[in-house]
Amino acid sequence: MTQTHTHTHGAALVTGASAGIGATYADRLAKRGHDLILVARDAARLEELATRLRAETGVNVEVFRADLTDPADLTGLEDRLAQDSTIDLVVNNAGAALFGGFLEHGPEQIENLIRLNVVAVTRLANAAAKAFNARSRGTLINVGSVVGLLPEYRSVVYGATKAFVLYLTQGLNEEIGGAGVTFQVVLPGATRTEIWERSGRDPSTLDPDRTMDVDELVDAALAGLDKGELVTIPSLPDPADWDAFQATRLKMAPNLSKAHPAVRYGVRVPVDT
Ligand SMILES: NC(=O)c1ccc[n+]([C@@H]2O[C@H](COP(=O)([O-])OP(=O)(O)OC[C@H]3O[C@@H](n4cnc5c(N)ncnc54)[C@H](OP(=O)(O)O)[C@@H]3O)[C@@H](O)[C@H]2O)c1
Repeated sequence: MTQTHTHTHGAALVTGASAGIGATYADRLAKRGHDLILVARDAARLEELATRLRAETGVNVEVFRADLTDPADLTGLEDRLAQDSTIDLVVNNAGAALFGGFLEHGPEQIENLIRLNVVAVTRLANAAAKAFNARSRGTLINVGSVVGLLPEYRSVVYGATKAFVLYLTQGLNEEIGGAGVTFQVVLPGATRTEIWERSGRDPSTLDPDRTMDVDELVDAALAGLDKGELVTIPSLPDPADWDAFQATRLKMAPNLSKAHPAVRYGVRVPVDT
């Protein structure tokens, strides 16, 4: 009898897989049976993770070294997404934070953050969406942040990049979602990873009651994916709060584009007829 080797899952491409949330996604997805393509700058760390995951799970793991702020590297990854029809899951996770006030940031810092958190995320989403749409099959997970909902948090540029990721995913779902193509945006709160040290904040200053372990965060995010959630906020106890927020936004929708300004601006005196 011939044995056909069937993969129930395609390959998953995870950006920012050398540490933190991305490395944890890689672990969980390997355990779910996905072959993996691990993307980040630190090839040695990726190789170390790949070796462990191959030994523990038997899946194929490839290391794809790329600096997503580098145009040539980003193009290389887009080409891979366009050409490799085995990829049916992309975790758009690589990202960085920028602490300190807006007045302290310099042009280069701002540009690098936007290149990584916005430009690379959008271009990879575009390459993945085209490939998935053509095959009517695929899942794109974008990692946002609750900071994108909280201008009050005073992390202006980082928060704005994460608000972009939320909008991007909601918009992609409206335009392309369904018919085999799935989108999810995950909004972590503070999570114990290297991001704090990398962006100049002492992790010992984090409130332990408001900071999640990365394992719990990723397990909850994947549970949200399995439930079919478009927006997953692992910390939020009552999903009705999110639904009410969306309902309030949509209540405004019919009034957001009109032929005349609202009366309170006094631009056009209503004429009695
Ligand atoms: N931790 C939190 O509290 C938290 C909360 C909300 C949202 N998030 C989001 O979660 C995502 C992952 O963050 P994390 O906490 O896991 O951070 P992390 O531990 O610092 O890991 C960041 C990952 O991104 C990769 N990366 C950074 N710059 C890159 C570049 N130029 N090109 C390619 N890869 C790059 C890093 O790998 P290399 O250095 O090897 O390139 C690393 O694998 C980010 O989008 C972050 O905004 C985190």
